[in-house]
Amino acid sequence: MNILVTGGAGFIGSHVVRRLVTNYPNYNIYNLDALTYAGNLENLKDIESSLNYTFIKGNICEPDFINSLFIKHQFEGVIHLAAESHVDRSITDPMAFVMTNVLGTVNLLNAAKIIWNKNFRDKRFYHISTDEVYGSLGKTGLFTETTAYDPNSPYSASKASSDHFVRAYGETYGLPYLISNCSNNYGPYQFPEKLIPLFLNNIINKKPLPVYGDGNYTRDWLYVEDHARAIDLLFHNGENAETYNIGGFNEWKNLDLVKLLCRKMDEKLGRSPGESERLITFVKDRPGHDLRYAIDASKIKRELGWEPSVTFEKGLEKTIDWYSTNEQWLNNVTSGKYKEYYERQYP
Ligand code: NAD
Ligand code: TYD
Repeated sequence: MNILVTGGAGFIGSHVVRRLVTNYPNYNIYNLDALTYAGNLENLKDIESSLNYTFIKGNICEPDFINSLFIKHQFEGVIHLAAESHVDRSITDPMAFVMTNVLGTVNLLNAAKIIWNKNFRDKRFYHISTDEVYGSLGKTGLFTETTAYDPNSPYSASKASSDHFVRAYGETYGLPYLISNCSNNYGPYQFPEKLIPLFLNNIINKKPLPVYGDGNYTRDWLYVEDHARAIDLLFHNGENAETYNIGGFNEWKNLDLVKLLCRKMDEKLGRSPGESERLITFVKDRPGHDLRYAIDASKIKRELGWEPSVTFEKGLEKTIDWYSTNEQWLNNVTSGKYKEYYERQYP
């Protein structure tokens, strides 16, 4: 089976590619990635010479190129993760999100529609999305698969739009599709613009920890390898034309999470208790900041037996170990353009 994975040199995509290449030696895994600031071939160094793995550098926004790949490699499955993925960047530059997340997704759908040419047997287009499409929860309640879409950021609006296009191609052209909407991921290889890796990097370097607003925002956190396992399972066993929510059953207020990170890092780095917490700095809030995300992941548990396998305690320990020992990786991704981004985002 020839499978196209898009965005495989990014955070979640690299874990998905590693899992598929390792677990399915009889599949050919094609990783298509434009290698934007968020894509990094270092993320897949350990499997890059595997016989069933091919990296293709390219942009999902280029229709002729995408069509030619579908013709050349006769993909039977697509697992689509390529995206602009950071809310703060979407506030500064929404158009980049429209281009990749909306136009890029429609280009891929078109290629699947044209090249598969209604021969949809044993084909599958799997679109990876986010719980952020559902908007914000109040203090109670959970997002289910039937919660109405209500996106608040340019990022979530672009992901919601791409979800709608995927579903529309299913309804209109019969394209066999599947969508999953996952909560916040954390773990090795996450770019240090997102909360956990940004704060770990800043703690290591004794830099201020910029908590937006009062820090009373809540997110549900899932270890990235559990997400990759869910994607593997859904790609193989999920129902066509269905949506699945994936989450960690693991809600944390930002400020509590940041204090936990500080305590754990003080222990890890042999610093005195309270040292890292003194780096916490409350900064201007993110515009349109969603108060709370929380996922009801009972459908995937009921239908496919998936549930998180890595406790938050264990996942954080692995993540902290990884960021503490992969200094070179961190230095590489935080040099050059990262500095410009950082100064703009945290003036
Ligand atoms: P990421 O930003 O780490 O990686 C995105 C990858 O896409 C990068 O390798 C980048 O080079 C590539 N890419 C960007 N634009 C491209 C283009 N035009 N053509 C080809 N490649 C391009 O993102 P991530 O956190 O790994 O997220 C992956 C997917 O999962 C995204 O679709 C995101 O919306 C979704 N998601 C993320 C989370 C999370 O917590 N990070 C949660 C739920 C869903
Ligand atoms: P983030 O990791 O950007 O994920 P998302 O916005 O997609 O949930 O942010 C997680 C939470 O942390 C969110 O409530 C915003 C907050 N946050 C900060 O307080 N400071 C920061 O510097 C960042 C990047 C995020």
